[in-house]
Amino acid sequence: MLPVPAAIRQHLSRHRQEHVLAWWEQLADPERHGLLAQLEALDLDELRQLHQQRETVYQLPRPETIQPVPVIPADAPSNPQVKQRGEAALRAGAVAVLVVAGGQGSRLGFEHPKGMFPIGPVSNKTLFQIHAEKVLALRRRYGKAVPFLLMTSPATHAETVQFFEDRHFFGLPREEVFFFQQGTMPALDLATGNLLLETKGRLFLSPDGHGGTLTALADSGLLAQMQQQDIKHLFYFQVDNPLVKLGDPTFLGHHLEARAQVSSRVIPKNGPTDKLGNFVQVDGRCVIIEYSDLPENLAKETDANGRLRLWAGSPAIHYFDLDFLANVLKGTNRIAFHVAKKKVPYLDAGGTLVQPEKENALKFERFIFDVLPLADRWTVVETSRAEEFAPLKNATGADSPEAVKKAITHLAADWLTRCGIKVPTDAASEPAFLLEISPLLALNAEELVKHLPQSLEIVGPTLLEPQG
Ligand code: UD1
Repeated sequence: MLPVPAAIRQHLSRHRQEHVLAWWEQLADPERHGLLAQLEALDLDELRQLHQQRETVYQLPRPETIQPVPVIPADAPSNPQVKQRGEAALRAGAVAVLVVAGGQGSRLGFEHPKGMFPIGPVSNKTLFQIHAEKVLALRRRYGKAVPFLLMTSPATHAETVQFFEDRHFFGLPREEVFFFQQGTMPALDLATGNLLLETKGRLFLSPDGHGGTLTALADSGLLAQMQQQDIKHLFYFQVDNPLVKLGDPTFLGHHLEARAQVSSRVIPKNGPTDKLGNFVQVDGRCVIIEYSDLPENLAKETDANGRLRLWAGSPAIHYFDLDFLANVLKGTNRIAFHVAKKKVPYLDAGGTLVQPEKENALKFERFIFDVLPLADRWTVVETSRAEEFAPLKNATGADSPEAVKKAITHLAADWLTRCGIKVPTDAASEPAFLLEISPLLALNAEELVKHLPQSLEIVGPTLLEPQG
């Protein structure tokens, strides 16, 4: 029988976590190896501190220091030079795109990685396919590789890689698609700080938040590899948003004009309780305060025009300067964990799996947007929800598949109308049919007008794709 290495037993005992070995004797050797690997990866000192400081780990900036963030408005007069600068960087092959796809999508109730969800209203294309086709379209438009980095987690990795392999990477060169896995964190019992087991031989672990992107990028060697390939700018987005204007050259142009280390998109919040991160400025730095952390009185404050004072919501779309990320990783400025109280099923002392009825555990996540305040130079650019943000989060209601398909249809209808095509509407003035435009045909209305099929008439659900 594989023995527990003495050092591990002592370490656990010193931290009063020996209970995780309670069933050691009953385990088969592969399970023992698995448990040991989990235990060796833990930083028990850090976990103890996190448990002790659970109510104070996250510090909201003092309310009087929280100011609205300066934003380049969506309706600012367009300056062709800005777009040209972004295009030049794309043409120089200086841009990579990164999607975070490690979340478990529990609210959606989908058993697979969320990127595998079929969301194309007419085509049924998955989120992954839509994103991959946008990357391919960029690659074709600018004639340079656009490395596509996908961050997965232990829960989503194998299925995601298989999905791309089975579909031949959706036409992208295999060597330009990179998968890398984020780390995990254990859950702790709320009252005692004890590690929780999900089986007799396995700790309960969950992804360490999209803040794990940074360490995972470095540990996988991808950060260094991108730097060697002269990639300068990393376009970051979330897998759940099929409307994202991936690698947008105008946004990149603003990033370059400002010599920014980080640039971010914002959209106006729908109301004070909109579930978006809040962009604010604190002591001259750009900060995102998560919706769950923003006190209600601040969220509801309005200005003289009745507009929300903190109106700028985050669609989680950024350009990062790669050297800036590398410096953040080198520095001592490690970003802090956020602590959430959650219901986590666990094995009790008798070995029975308990489904708790109320919050029983602490989970720890880092958020990528906590690097924003570390940037000395930053810029924030407004975009509209209709054009760029329709996240898939829930099974029904807001941000559900139905709502996202509607948003895709609306955007397609808008582009078609701008191209002079008549889009039939129903009694409620909504597009009468589901509509979809392949990213391989056009990434915006200006491109669409050049590729429209002759004498197009919309008489039913319509998918516009390149011919042949
Ligand atoms: C998130 C943002 C919020 C933003 C909103 C926009 C956080 C904490 N909040 O909210 O500020 O306004 O999106 O839609 O992110 N992910 C990982 N690994 C993890 C956790 C998440 O890759 O460990 C990925 C998910 O796959 C997903 C994204 O991060 O693509 C966002 O996660 P989600 O849990 O959906 O965040 P929200 O609470 O919706």
